[in-house]
Amino acid sequence: MKNDMKKCIFAGTFDPITNGHKEIISKISEMFDEVLVAVCVNRAKSAKFSADKRVEMVEKACAGYKNVKATYYEGLLVDLMKSENIKYNVRGIRDEADYLYESRMTLANSEFFPEMVTVYVPCNEKNKFISSTLVRELMYYGKDVSELVPQEIADLIKESK
Ligand code: COA
Repeated sequence: MKNDMKKCIFAGTFDPITNGHKEIISKISEMFDEVLVAVCVNRAKSAKFSADKRVEMVEKACAGYKNVKATYYEGLLVDLMKSENIKYNVRGIRDEADYLYESRMTLANSEFFPEMVTVYVPCNEKNKFISSTLVRELMYYGKDVSELVPQEIADLIKESK
């Protein structure tokens, strides 16, 4: 596969997008010419926010990055990568557990797309504890989550309570 533009994909459930995700997107928007944020299905999780809402939140949170686009996809990540002609797969890493999990996923995905290159991006100390599950849990108990999610989506999050 030959690409003039360096394109990467950053996939996740983004239920919702958090400051942890945005930190990764900010870094990779500098490293790559184009970033596709793919809101995907993780069959082990059931989403609180609809697919449209999750894409809308990603788009709003990333509006400041001109080379970042968002899409929703229900199939296998490797199939989306092939159809979009993207070989770089970015994964955010918080700790050893994430690394172990992601390295297994990389092996599995490589079986179906050997040209895929996985790029692990470590997250900052201050975002290490943030997860979408934590955000949803705090929302459930009526807590303010505005410090954990991009400020651009604070209103959308409040509406969804
Ligand atoms: N970067 C990424 N995630 C971060 C993060 C960071 N810097 N900091 C925190 N996190 C959190 C996320 O919020 C998420 O939290 P949650 O578990 O509370 O939802 C978690 O870390 C990441 O979860 P993970 O399970 O690694 O990813 P995901 O659920 O967001 O996305 C998919 C997984 C969608 C990429 C994967 O299921 C997929 O590729 N699906 C498509 C089908 C497919 O191809 N399956 C693979 C078959 S081999």
